[in-house]
Amino acid sequence: MKAQQGISAVAALIGVIVIGAVAIVLWYAMSPGPMAFVTAPRVKLSEYAGAPTGVPADLPGRDDPLVRGRYLTQAADCEACHTTPGGKPFAGGRAFATPFGTLYSPNITSDPETGIGHWTDAQFIKAVHKGVRPDGARLYPAFPYASYTYLTDDDVLAIKQYLASLPAVRQNAPANDLAFPFDQRWLMALWSAFFNPDQRFRATPAHSPEWNRGAYLVEGLGHCGECHTPRNLLQALDNRQKFAGAVADGWRAYNITPDKSTGVGAWSDVDLASYLAAGHAKERGAAAGPMREAVEFGLRHLTPSDIGAMVTYLRSVPPLSSSNLPSRLAGPAPAAYDGGNAAHVDARGRMIFESACVSCHAWTGEGTATSYATLTGSRAVNDPSGRNVVQVILSGVPPLRGQPDVFMPSFGHAYTDAEIAAVANYVTARFGAEASTLSANQVARLRNGG
Ligand code: HEC
Ligand code: HEC
Ligand code: HEC
Repeated sequence: MKAQQGISAVAALIGVIVIGAVAIVLWYAMSPGPMAFVTAPRVKLSEYAGAPTGVPADLPGRDDPLVRGRYLTQAADCEACHTTPGGKPFAGGRAFATPFGTLYSPNITSDPETGIGHWTDAQFIKAVHKGVRPDGARLYPAFPYASYTYLTDDDVLAIKQYLASLPAVRQNAPANDLAFPFDQRWLMALWSAFFNPDQRFRATPAHSPEWNRGAYLVEGLGHCGECHTPRNLLQALDNRQKFAGAVADGWRAYNITPDKSTGVGAWSDVDLASYLAAGHAKERGAAAGPMREAVEFGLRHLTPSDIGAMVTYLRSVPPLSSSNLPSRLAGPAPAAYDGGNAAHVDARGRMIFESACVSCHAWTGEGTATSYATLTGSRAVNDPSGRNVVQVILSGVPPLRGQPDVFMPSFGHAYTDAEIAAVANYVTARFGAEASTLSANQVARLRNGG
């Protein structure tokens, strides 16, 4: 009798575990797509009168296939990931730190041996839509093919044609350094079955042509969700929290939903357009780190009509609020050096700010030589984690090509971890709504890749 009870208890326990595991798998597998929030019917592009794909009507020289290809390559930001800092464009070798180890982007120049010079059109399309290489090997989703899968074949081939027109570079990427079982590429076939919709973009006739163009740019080419949407345990985007903010490459990619207090709902259209196209918006801070790269290699090359379309689309996603961000941004700090919220924090932070930062940022936080250096209103300084402030201090903000005067030097080598923690805590206390409480150890972790 006792033994029987024991067996049925074990059986019940196993049953509960199995049901729990199945429920978790289903929960992930049924994770909604990036456009699941759209309730109006969607149709194939062939059944849609507008033209949300390709290049915009007002792009100068749009009949030239290479102009087309360059524009799409920029909108998709291929260069940022396939180029090392200071390296040859598209020659690969950039490191991507993941929770499972490091992988490197391959060379996608037209070199036949170390690049993709011998790939056929069909092979290239298969890699971009499905994450499958010509030899059948699966690619890791650090290559955002689950977003690029929305691109039309024409657009993918225009990108291929443009890449083929550039100088071939002979260079092999370093070998990946991934722990078992993550070094097993075939596992990505399972991942793709669950998380790559492998579906081309569908239009929503109930929305404006501008909205549809914005959706194609944001979800497909621009792959904004790859940084701004949190991931689940299996590294797939959790679109239940679409655009609600996430950590990307050790930086915090903030909430870009239309939530008024912790997202970009209070930003004007002009603010949003200017941030995307120029990397700055008045009293909204600067685009640094990975967002800087998205602007440098991609967004700043887009036409105003395309930037406007992205803004229209971003406005339409469901607002979500971030509980870990203050609901109000701080106003300008007082002009006196010892006034304001920061009076009580670590005096070392104030001393470093005085010697290294005040010349450009002033005690008020209003940029001195350029309004671009204005800290007032920046999300980074109003983020009590202090993460992006530390990152900006460590790496600086490089100038955009063509704007050599506006940049911030890097202080990573000038100060110790403890000093950087002190000045970051001072900056968030003085200019933000809530002070960060970073330790030297936390700075050390960010210095070593997050
Ligand atoms: C967010 C970073 C990122 C972006 C953006 C990106 N890639 Fe990649 N790409 C990678 C990484 C990382 C790999 C390697 C994945 C692996 O090893 O499994 C890769 C792999 C590839 C491959 C496979 C090459 C080979 O030899 O196996 C091709 C082709 C490719 N990317 C083309 C593109 C194109 C075209 C674009 C723009 C439309 C692009 N990539 C944008 C990160 C990126
Ligand atoms: C490679 C990662 C990455 C990609 C891709 C990316 N972002 Fe960002 N984004 C970031 C990071 C990191 C920040 C924070 C930058 C900072 O603090 O200086 C940011 C900041 C922003 C902000 C400012 C938010 C605020 O409250 O200050 C907006 C708006 C934005 N991104 C929109 C977009 C859009 C639209 C796209 C797609 C076209 C996009 N981002 C693609 C990483 C990314
Ligand atoms: C030579 C002038 C200069 C110095 C010195 C300088 N900065 Fe900056 N800083 C800038 C500029 C310019 C920007 C905006 C960059 C851009 O958008 O091109 C900026 C941006 C920032 C941002 C990012 C704001 C955002 O919205 O993401 C922070 C935080 C910051 N600086 C903190 C500091 C700290 C702390 C120091 C001292 C350790 C410092 N800066 C020293 C010029 C400077």
